[in-house]
Amino acid sequence: MSGNPEVNPLDNLVIEGGRPLSGTIRIHGAKNAALPILAASLLAEGKVTIRNVPRLLDIEVMLDILRDIGCQARHQDSVVTVEPAAATSSHIPETLMRKMRSSVFLMGPLLARFGEVQLYQPGGCAIGERKIDLHLRGLTALGANIREKGSRIVCTARKLSGAEIILDFPSVGATENIMMAAVLAQGRTSIVGAAREPEIQDLQQFLNAMGAKVSGAGTDIITIDGVSSLSGCDYEVIPDRIVSGTVMVAAAATRGEVTLENTRPDHLTSLIHALRRAGVQIDIGNDIMKVGSTGRPKAVERIVTSPYPAFPTDLQAQVMTLLALSDGVSIMKETIFEGRFKHVEELCRMGADIRVDLNNAFIRGVPQLYGTNVEATDLRAGAALVIAGLAAQGRTVVEQVHHIDRGYDRIEEMFRQIGGNIVRERNASKVFS
Ligand code: EPZ
Repeated sequence: MSGNPEVNPLDNLVIEGGRPLSGTIRIHGAKNAALPILAASLLAEGKVTIRNVPRLLDIEVMLDILRDIGCQARHQDSVVTVEPAAATSSHIPETLMRKMRSSVFLMGPLLARFGEVQLYQPGGCAIGERKIDLHLRGLTALGANIREKGSRIVCTARKLSGAEIILDFPSVGATENIMMAAVLAQGRTSIVGAAREPEIQDLQQFLNAMGAKVSGAGTDIITIDGVSSLSGCDYEVIPDRIVSGTVMVAAAATRGEVTLENTRPDHLTSLIHALRRAGVQIDIGNDIMKVGSTGRPKAVERIVTSPYPAFPTDLQAQVMTLLALSDGVSIMKETIFEGRFKHVEELCRMGADIRVDLNNAFIRGVPQLYGTNVEATDLRAGAALVIAGLAAQGRTVVEQVHHIDRGYDRIEEMFRQIGGNIVRERNASKVFS
């Protein structure tokens, strides 16, 4: 991987818990907005500048793919510049596909630009099967011909024409892929049953900054009128609502008080509601929040993850950590991914009392968690274990930190800025095993 961050699968995070977090932290740009926007930059006929792009593994993989297909791409001090004109290939290498599932976002732009894209089934991951049938069905409706040969997918389209596409599930990725394929298609496309996430709205703003005609993002019907070409632009990505939510939960779990700057409370209404039900104090400004707690969290009878604007699956593991310390029994129901409870076993090793039955987790709060060695199994599970370590009594070592580096820009520095006792160390013992 050519860019920063310097990370290594042998890295661990060593956390001395029990100290309340306090201070002010500025939230970095949204990974899940930047990734589709980077893919969409392929559609421009001129240079694209994208600001507030965090230094994350997934971002660097996306930039490596853009370079691999011929673009010039640079990432300097959270500003990315892409020169897409030189792109020639529309084949996404399997190695890079495997490294990051979000490479699937390149299907729409590459198909729109080259009329052909070859990629590989992204495969499942720790949290679930991660099918792409809705992506493929949407692109087919626009006129693409899709042939699957084993894990290889060859997608061709002499021309793309607008269509009405009905999504039977508001898939974020499918909505974004169809938007990016439709902006240069002939005629009007409507996406009915579209995902409504803020990252979808950010993509609409970005596409329109390039001269596209997209409307309705944030509602369940998005309309795209195809145009003949798109120009370069200069665009700033929204703050990361999941990083904001992670910091908010950590402030509450350590009974501290933290001010978040460059954040969007309006993107976090369901989390704010859940945390207030747990007794967390939250004061809101327009791009700032102060989050604090002085006592033990209250149990929350039931939280159900659902598509935006309901409670986000990407904050399920983090909030479960808070509820594991609460004064009663809470139920967390995961309806988006079939395998997103892998953090439960690790939390129980720290003293949590959580029982899983299918996609329900029954969380009986305990007064204290205890530090021990735990392993991050996926991005948000890893973040939840860091929160648990910050709140626990004693030392916690979180292994497989590279999962966390996919979505948090140096998480240890972020929490150290607000008083967390957390350092990154290289696990030399593993080097020789
Ligand atoms: C995006 O993933 C996010 N990733 C995920 O964040 C997030 O959890 C998810 O949306 C839901 O909000 C990025 O934006 C890069 P989906 P995506 O398509 O697009 C099923 C993180 O932690 N499905 O809405 O893959 C799928 O199997 C990551 O930052 C199909 O069945 O999510 C899953 O169960 C994790 N067929 C559900 O829908 C399809 O064609 C949600 O998937 C597509 C999806």
